[in-house]
Amino acid sequence: MWLHRESAPALNAKSIYLRRLMEKKKETLPAGRQVVMSGIRPTGFLHLGNYFGAIRNYVKMQEEYDCYFMVADLHSLTTHPDTKDLKTNVHRVLAENIASGLDPEKVALYCQSHLYQTGELYLYLNMLAYKGELEKTPTFKDKVRQHPDNVNAGLLTYPVLMAADILIHKAKYVPVGKDQEQHLEIARNYVNRFNHRYSEVFPEPYAFNFNSELVKIPSLDGTGKMSKSENHMATLFLADDDNAIRKKIMKAKTDNGPSENNSAKPDYIENLFLLMKLVSKANTLQHFEEKFNNCSIRYGDMKKQLAEDMVEFIAPIRQKVDDILNDEKYLQKVMKQGAEKAIAHAEITMRDVRNAMRLNYF
Ligand code: TYM
Repeated sequence: MWLHRESAPALNAKSIYLRRLMEKKKETLPAGRQVVMSGIRPTGFLHLGNYFGAIRNYVKMQEEYDCYFMVADLHSLTTHPDTKDLKTNVHRVLAENIASGLDPEKVALYCQSHLYQTGELYLYLNMLAYKGELEKTPTFKDKVRQHPDNVNAGLLTYPVLMAADILIHKAKYVPVGKDQEQHLEIARNYVNRFNHRYSEVFPEPYAFNFNSELVKIPSLDGTGKMSKSENHMATLFLADDDNAIRKKIMKAKTDNGPSENNSAKPDYIENLFLLMKLVSKANTLQHFEEKFNNCSIRYGDMKKQLAEDMVEFIAPIRQKVDDILNDEKYLQKVMKQGAEKAIAHAEITMRDVRNAMRLNYF
């Protein structure tokens, strides 16, 4: 809130005049480094899907790209209108990002609601968004099924706000998991409509994963993907303690093993191998691949090994998260600094947008 009070211009002639004067200064977006943007909703504890679909890429990209990463608190309101735990959840997502290796000095790490310019761009993009198209978005249909009593306009225009988040920074790369691919396609539609109707302002943004296909981390029961809000026993959270990790992995679905050499793996077995590939050593994976291929695999042994490797992977992140959460002053500083960087960058884009739309009457 402090940021809104300090930075949001009051809607009077003087402040509009001052803003226009600022816009006349020849500020441009920094040339050179490509812009990257992404976000995570604070709707629960982060899990391995969020880590391998998004955060792992953030951490790699921070070295070479101009990065804007945020906690999507406004998006969370579309499905979680009760804000009692919002602050705690925002802090947790920030802490989980930092504990996973994101450096707030290298990137802009901010909270979506602090970048108030996004609301302005969202409004303009809404004029380019058609109701029929939004109603067909698979994520909208899913959410209607899950929350039939709260089908609000924010839910319908969720992809418009997401496009505004990305375009406000003129981002080209958006590190996300496979489930967000459709939202990126929608954002590209708005880019093309805007550029065509007004003038060339935005680049087309693309979903990104380092050197490979977008990731979908499956749930441990083989029935879908890991998720913040569904089926907690089949999702591995970065906050899970060692015993919870062991228990969840040992309960993962398996069978009696293959009866023919070099058989195809059923989905739920493929999932265990995928997790092993992500957190275990290459020779461990190879050992179990060989055992699978010559039909001597014992899934109990494989799960025990995977559980220990997973504990080794998650425990240090969990411990760092706890330390960071204990330092609220530090988190406040991170948010303030991130918002300042994001606001300065967004203002440059918004100047281009207002000019392109001829909303520059002074
Ligand atoms: P959210 O909060 O649902 O998820 C955050 C990120 O984690 C990825 N993810 C997964 N990746 C692989 N396997 C899984 N099981 C899995 N579950 C989640 C998501 O793909 C995402 O990258 N709409 C976004 C938040 C958002 C955003 C943005 C993202 C708002 N504005 C602008 C990018 C750019 C969302 O709901 O993420």
